[in-house]
Amino acid sequence: MQSQKSIRDGYQASPWEPEAESPSAKSNFSQAVIYDCLIVGAGITGLTAALKLQLAGKSTVIAEAYNLGYGTTGGTSAHINTFADTTYMEVKQAFGEQGAQLFADAVNGGYNIIRDNIAKYGIDCDYEEKPGYLYAEDEQQMKALDQVVEGARMVGVSVNYTENVPIPVPHQKAATLPGQAQFHPLKYLNALAAEYIKAGGIILNNTFINEVESSDDVHAAKAGDISIQASNVVYATHMPPGINVFNMRCAPYRSYVVAVKLQNDADCPDALIYDLQEPYHYFRTHVINGEKLLLIGGNDHKTGHDDPEAAFNDLEKYIKRYFDVQEVKYRWSSQYYVPADGLPYIGQIPMQADGIWCATGYNGNGMMLATISGDILADLIVDKQNEFAELMSTKRLKPIDGFTEFVKENADVAYHFVADRFGIEKLNALNELQAGTGKVIEIDGEKVAAYKDEQGAVHALSPVCTHMKCFVNWNAAEKSWDCPCHGARYDIDGKVITGPARQPLQPL
Ligand code: FES
Repeated sequence: MQSQKSIRDGYQASPWEPEAESPSAKSNFSQAVIYDCLIVGAGITGLTAALKLQLAGKSTVIAEAYNLGYGTTGGTSAHINTFADTTYMEVKQAFGEQGAQLFADAVNGGYNIIRDNIAKYGIDCDYEEKPGYLYAEDEQQMKALDQVVEGARMVGVSVNYTENVPIPVPHQKAATLPGQAQFHPLKYLNALAAEYIKAGGIILNNTFINEVESSDDVHAAKAGDISIQASNVVYATHMPPGINVFNMRCAPYRSYVVAVKLQNDADCPDALIYDLQEPYHYFRTHVINGEKLLLIGGNDHKTGHDDPEAAFNDLEKYIKRYFDVQEVKYRWSSQYYVPADGLPYIGQIPMQADGIWCATGYNGNGMMLATISGDILADLIVDKQNEFAELMSTKRLKPIDGFTEFVKENADVAYHFVADRFGIEKLNALNELQAGTGKVIEIDGEKVAAYKDEQGAVHALSPVCTHMKCFVNWNAAEKSWDCPCHGARYDIDGKVITGPARQPLQPL
């Protein structure tokens, strides 16, 4: 077993990275073997499914494009809740009361699996249970709060109105939900990986799957000159790669987090607290390297559709309005996917070969929903009944009408969005571009995604996303090219850091 320091899919470091090693185990991998399951992506979904499958006697390989927790698991703010962004009342409206109850059981099922794993394997991952609070600041938010409370009571989730929220933000009404939790996501993930390896599982880091060819119930996944053969392939990558139905069913969002040291540690609330603004803010405390930090998150927006620097600055301004901040220690952002009807999609990918699976659309509730998704996928693969599988099945997708229209329309929208909102600037020469910045510019009639590094070298790429040809947009905070259509992200040299794109941006 080898280890390396974790990195993630952004320029800004999250507080989790330095403390976590990324195990890999490939010594027993063979290209001649047909494995029971290949799992693409080593985040919480992938590791939860892989560990369960391996323990059930299924031979499993994880192929991770970079390192464990490189994607959203390495950038989450790691809240473990008994409630979700899609409220139980909203689920009731769309899926009936029984659907709402099942969804609540799934959310709490994910929570329980995390807690059980921590106990069973003795995982030291800063796990703490604390009360949760939601508060409303105006009339409309009070109605939303009442809906949350009513929904939670309907499905048997403990909730009470309260007068006291341990936060200095003025509010009009609040509720408390006991037994929320938090942890260090990479410490947890790496412990799962260690158990998986102990059970004989294989992890191939730095293995980017370019394509999968299917024949006679065997899928051959190509990663450079390596071929991995398996009876099942699970895309645990949020959005599965390539063009698929989920491009139209899940919208990619960026979410921002700032971790600050306060003048007085006692002002850090010993709770998980959420407001009901749109987009919302949340607050929680975590001790990182012996230092008590307040984590504040929010300001979410669709990927590639707003200025990430402005989102961070707004968040910092917001914190300083209510807290006496000594120092900003970390600021980072991460990506999640909002599903069209509020529930995740878990199961076989429609219109692909049998045995190709995915789980996506966790909204802002990745800890519980990724965990329960991994559990459901493992059951489905071994053909075991799972009570949640039908509610969140990918089969609830209707056949796609007007698919070509969708492609055209979105490409057009994205082009106009970039052109109108941020402007494709005409520069006479690349030396007008500031060092350390990127821009989509026009030079001699040609559009160029140009980044000038600190040494003055220009990295010039085609701005056309290789997924479905939208124009990428510069993310100044994470130093990446982000696609406003389905959330693909590329580094300054065009390498894919987040799907669904498979191919890099073309160098110019
Ligand atoms: Fe789909 Fe870029 S066009 S992610």
